[in-house]
Amino acid sequence: MFDALSRQPDDALLALIGLYNQDSRPGKVDLGVGVYRDEAGRTPVFRAVKAAERLLLESQDSKAYIGLEGDTLYLERLWNLVGGAAGRRVVAAGVQTPGGSGALRLAADLLLRGGCRRILVGTPTWPNHVGIFGAAGLTVSSHPFFDAAGQTVLFDRMVEALEAAGPGDAALLHGSCHNPTGAPLSADQWAVLAATLEKRGVLPLVDLAYQGFGRGLEEDAAGLRHLIAAVPETLVAVSSSKSFGLYRERTGAIFAVSASADAAALARSNLMALARTSYSMPPDHGAAVVRTILGDEALTRDWREELEGMRARIVGLRRALAAGLAPVWPALSAIEGQEGMFSLLPLTEAEVLRLRAEHAIYMPTSGRINIAGLKTADVAEVVARFAALR
Ligand code: LMR
Repeated sequence: MFDALSRQPDDALLALIGLYNQDSRPGKVDLGVGVYRDEAGRTPVFRAVKAAERLLLESQDSKAYIGLEGDTLYLERLWNLVGGAAGRRVVAAGVQTPGGSGALRLAADLLLRGGCRRILVGTPTWPNHVGIFGAAGLTVSSHPFFDAAGQTVLFDRMVEALEAAGPGDAALLHGSCHNPTGAPLSADQWAVLAATLEKRGVLPLVDLAYQGFGRGLEEDAAGLRHLIAAVPETLVAVSSSKSFGLYRERTGAIFAVSASADAAALARSNLMALARTSYSMPPDHGAAVVRTILGDEALTRDWREELEGMRARIVGLRRALAAGLAPVWPALSAIEGQEGMFSLLPLTEAEVLRLRAEHAIYMPTSGRINIAGLKTADVAEVVARFAALR
């Protein structure tokens, strides 16, 4: 049977990891996959994660299954972080998932079970959004979201698309730190989105994967918190990969949020049944680490401090990059005001490949750059290479 299969293209983003690693040129620059890097180019394990792991090593006395729902204390503490005070005024039925991607897949499966057939997605988005929703069987309907040449959010086009949608439709929103554009939405824009979704009966699915990397832990959840108070039901897919640096531990959660405890409980029972026929039960370790950190004041303080340091480094790099590029490429001064790891440069595929071949600067062909992949010492060189393309 296997020979009847056709060869699949490598995942373009993940393939970059291998290409970069194989490149032996000194001074190569990795602006590819979305992982945080420090000034030395390392993706550190948070101090608080190490401390929590030591505690777990001493205290964990069983590796028995944790159940379909996952670690309930992880879910409770994670939801407190995500929802804040607004989160306490609604019911959030959570299920722990293998990463944010697992959460998105369960969300898509649940939408289909609930009779939703279509999901609206702004262009561009993280390519795997389209892959996951399509693989689940949802129709993915794209609308313009961002103009890379002008570095502007096409908010009117987004609202127009939502106005034309209705019950039976869902809409994907990025909670903060938009991937791939970094383009922020204002509080007013979140209010318009919430009102439009509520009016049209469209169910929002919010992907929150970078809380703490944009404007701060609270600020990055503000739009989502407004939304959950304004619409009757929301799905929130949370990733702990970046905010806790737990990438390979595959740690995430899906929350079905509702004003009704009965409705939320129904959603949870379906999410658990869907998990059972997919991967059964989630991996434990990452969630146990997050639960341990968030259950301990000193560890939480230390984790927040380290995360804030990462955020500050990215903000500084954004400022330096924008200052260098603005004189030659005025639109790119917007990089400074964008959030999180990513910005989207208006480069052609040929230009991206040339930067890779001639200067060992790696990024996906979309032109997305992971700002956290820069070292301060690289900025001048990278600015010069980008500017030369003008
Ligand atoms: C990214 O967008 O680079 C990350 O979310 C990693 C991934 O899985 O694509």
